[in-house]
Amino acid sequence: SVTRHYKFDIKLKNVTRLCTTKSIVTVNGKFPGPRIIAREGDRVLVNVVNHVPNNMTIHWHGIRQLQNGWADGPSYITQCPIQTNQSYVYNFTIIGQRGTLFWHAHISWLRATVYGPLIILPKRHAPYPFPKPHKEVPIIFGEWWNVDTEAVISQALQTGNGPNVSNAYTINGLPGPLYNCSKKDTFSLKVKPGKTYLLRLINAAVNDELFFSIANHSLTVVEADAVYVKPFTTNILFITPGQTTNVLLKAKPQYPNATFLMLARPYFTGRGTFDNSTVAGILEYKEHSNSSSSTSLKSPLFRPILPQINATSFVANFTSKFRSLASSKFPANVPRTVEKRFFFTVGLGTNPCPKNQTCQGPTNTTKFAASINNNSFALPSVALLQSHFFAQSNSVYTTDFPTIPPKPFNYTGTPPNNTNVSNGTKVVVLKFNTSVELVLQGTSILGAESHPLHLHGFNFFVVGQGFGNFDPNKDPPKFNLVDPVERNTYGVPARGWAAIRFLADNPGVWLMHCHFDVHLSWGLRMAWVVQDGKLPNQKLPPPPSDLPKC
Ligand code: C2O
Repeated sequence: SVTRHYKFDIKLKNVTRLCTTKSIVTVNGKFPGPRIIAREGDRVLVNVVNHVPNNMTIHWHGIRQLQNGWADGPSYITQCPIQTNQSYVYNFTIIGQRGTLFWHAHISWLRATVYGPLIILPKRHAPYPFPKPHKEVPIIFGEWWNVDTEAVISQALQTGNGPNVSNAYTINGLPGPLYNCSKKDTFSLKVKPGKTYLLRLINAAVNDELFFSIANHSLTVVEADAVYVKPFTTNILFITPGQTTNVLLKAKPQYPNATFLMLARPYFTGRGTFDNSTVAGILEYKEHSNSSSSTSLKSPLFRPILPQINATSFVANFTSKFRSLASSKFPANVPRTVEKRFFFTVGLGTNPCPKNQTCQGPTNTTKFAASINNNSFALPSVALLQSHFFAQSNSVYTTDFPTIPPKPFNYTGTPPNNTNVSNGTKVVVLKFNTSVELVLQGTSILGAESHPLHLHGFNFFVVGQGFGNFDPNKDPPKFNLVDPVERNTYGVPARGWAAIRFLADNPGVWLMHCHFDVHLSWGLRMAWVVQDGKLPNQKLPPPPSDLPKC
């Protein structure tokens, strides 16, 4: 293993999409940002230098950061932001993980433009558990706003209303030919007849779960969230923000003189406004790999068929196909016994409109909020991890996060009259190595939506899921403890629940949140504090000397 050095200069750059030019925050002037490539076992050093007026942090989404929370990145959780003209070196070693992840800004809505692939190759000479692909191609989905995204979220938080929806979805930063004034900004995947390609799909969209398909081609899923899965073949893929999926694409043996569109558009069940448009890229056959003709739409033009916008049963069926390899080489280390059980409701709610303000929330006296067990998580003004490490948590956070809902109700039925949530910076404290089972119950308050929940610092096993209210007697006996999928992000179904298990073997403070930034901003987040173990290799070491100060 080696040490890989990267430099991230955070700077502004004028970028034009849909005939609109705006100045965006970028890494090294690139949109999407640069790829990080490393091997399992490597150490990665990224020197982030902030040249923009905004505060910045970067999160290495899905990297476990064992005993290394100082490099995790969520602002005010594990670190104070990197201020203008300051820098911080993220220093982490990749232990026991290989596959596709991504990195993104973890402050306000800056991840709308600050994101890029994080690719972990297996150790040298360690083969993939599937045939070696001819080429590997990252495909990263995003969203594009014609206006400044920081203005979108601050206006939404001020008015209490939902934020403006994006103007386009993108593939590798490009909206594609189905949007006005966008034909030249089309992603093209050039393939050679008969060859197999590994597509590394990443959903970096800000607020939308996506369906994806390539006309006349099927995809074989082989990995999710940097964990191998039992291969399965599908024509249509579903991916939530925060999830990554590796698929194999086999190019047809004959050279077809046609254009195959690849399309992605959202899955959406909630109320309110959303962008139901479609991003397109093209799959182009090339007989000679170095013939560099420009992207062209040839007829016949084949278009894949995507599910309906609210195709919840497709989503449930698709997500249930993911299974761990659970082989001797890649075992599924599912916690067999459970020491702590938690039941968390996840969903929307309201906060009262502040006295001196006019709100345009669900009613004009309320603004939108989102919560876990009716607690909308308030960000502190210092970082929780430092407060924890230096035992200075007193005025920063409390340890009384509700581990069951304050009042039970029919979570997926008629919502209660009082939709107000309470606010606070509350955490759950876990002893080192506690095995945790957590049931995440979606609610239908202000509309039933699915919530892609992301856990920092751990992978978890999805041992069960279902529609309606979780039944503590009938559902647990059906849990899959043999080969459940291991992930870092999972969509809690709309009008349903998911049960996950993880082992709290990583001391530190770890954020868990909905990976829709709109829900994250509204408070759908909480933090786990995992205490040190007794042995030296079970403790969180002191912070690096360049850790930013608030
Ligand atoms: Cu990908 Cu806390 O985020």
